[in-house]
Amino acid sequence: MSPNDSSAPYPSRRSMLRLGAALPLATTLPGWSRMAHSGTNDSLRIGLIGCGGRGTGAAANALRADPDVKLWAMGDAFSDMLENSLANLEKAGDLAGKIDVSPERRFTGFDAYRQVIDQVDVVLLATSPHFRPLHVEYAVEQGKHLFVEKPVAVDAPGLRRIEAACKRAAEKRLSLVSGLCYRYQFAKKATFERIHSGDIGEITALQCTYNTGGLWHRGHKPEWSEMEYQMRNWLYFPWLSGDHIAEQHIHSLDKMLWAMGDAAPAKVTASGGRIVRTDPKYGTVYDHFNSVYEWANGVRGFSSCRQMNGTSHDVSDYAFGTKGTAALQHHRIQGENKWRWRGDGPDDMYQNEHNALFEAIRNDTPINNGDYMIKSTMLALMARMSAYSGQTVTWEQAYQSQLDLTPPAYAWINELPDPGVARPGVTRFV
Ligand SMILES: NC(=O)c1ccc[n+]([C@@H]2O[C@H](COP(=O)([O-])OP(=O)(O)OC[C@H]3O[C@@H](n4cnc5c(N)ncnc54)[C@H](O)[C@@H]3O)[C@@H](O)[C@H]2O)c1
Repeated sequence: MSPNDSSAPYPSRRSMLRLGAALPLATTLPGWSRMAHSGTNDSLRIGLIGCGGRGTGAAANALRADPDVKLWAMGDAFSDMLENSLANLEKAGDLAGKIDVSPERRFTGFDAYRQVIDQVDVVLLATSPHFRPLHVEYAVEQGKHLFVEKPVAVDAPGLRRIEAACKRAAEKRLSLVSGLCYRYQFAKKATFERIHSGDIGEITALQCTYNTGGLWHRGHKPEWSEMEYQMRNWLYFPWLSGDHIAEQHIHSLDKMLWAMGDAAPAKVTASGGRIVRTDPKYGTVYDHFNSVYEWANGVRGFSSCRQMNGTSHDVSDYAFGTKGTAALQHHRIQGENKWRWRGDGPDDMYQNEHNALFEAIRNDTPINNGDYMIKSTMLALMARMSAYSGQTVTWEQAYQSQLDLTPPAYAWINELPDPGVARPGVTRFV
């Protein structure tokens, strides 16, 4: 039975509020969890888990998406990240009156997610990707609507957990919106609609590129444990980020998947390595990947990503067809059906995705982006598996992979497994 079902044996939102008024400590009692409601006109409480750059942005987007919402609880592994995020949100004049995160609703540490989730209606998940399966599972179990940043797992066991949780979310009529934001950009939607209606004919090939410079590094403090060091510099540790093909290039891979009507490729052959990112401070991630995906119908997708300072930047994607070519980032079609996007209204994809989430919650028309967010994450992970091992990897092999990157404990420990930098032909596909 769903919490949205009027016959459900749940107290109504208003009776919950009355209960809360009678028992002011109810929100702090263990085991107490607020029910998330759909199709409601009541005020919605938002909880942010992972208060870094994107989490802070997502919270602002969520608060702007609906007139009657409040940021109610925040959780982060580290209090400085949480307090910075809150201070930044409070500086945004238009959010005044929508932020009510009193000190007892600011949670830190590995268990912060539970405390946040328990007392809100909508959860924004924006930690480093490793923790996504754990957090999605718990939020769905507690019946909360979700905004889920990409990628959603760093290994196949994590992805299988996400898949099960997404199915459960659909059964519970919860909304689950993915942070694969291009899917919510109106210009992209219009471009893909044209591709899917045949404007470039049959797709014959795809190409996507995400070549940028290096990203941030947050340094090392002597008082930090190894766990804290890695979590603060999560980009460089595959167990936390999935490597940059998953963390960043997933946006491009998602566009290839979208062009293919969300059909999964049959296999991938990828290569990669680290040429400039040799300092140990960069953990064990690669600095470039090149991958060739093959779909069962013979279409090939060529993907390239690089993070190296001093190199040319290129973030672009193309779909080639029998009647023309679509430049996906430029929203243009050349060929028999020449076209370009001419929309001139606001089209902030980050805002659009939250507008859609809250509209779905208000109207009780749940969104569930599980299918493509899982497949796009798998596109990235299967190429990483292929590049690290030097083997061609099929979709099925990747899906069944037993490689589990979970650390021995979620605690401020100094001993963490050191996988070393993967060496194709030596590193085994597991
Ligand atoms: N959709 C996009 O365009 C986009 C853009 C940037 C980042 N992202 C994604 O958003 C996520 C966060 O990226 P970011 O740039 O904000 O990183 P960040 O390091 O700035 O923020 C991550 C935050 O999560 C916290 N955290 C880590 N583990 C935690 C845990 N177990 N419990 C609670 N808090 C935890 C960290 O302390 C940090 O404050 C990543 O998955 C990233 O790929 C998406």
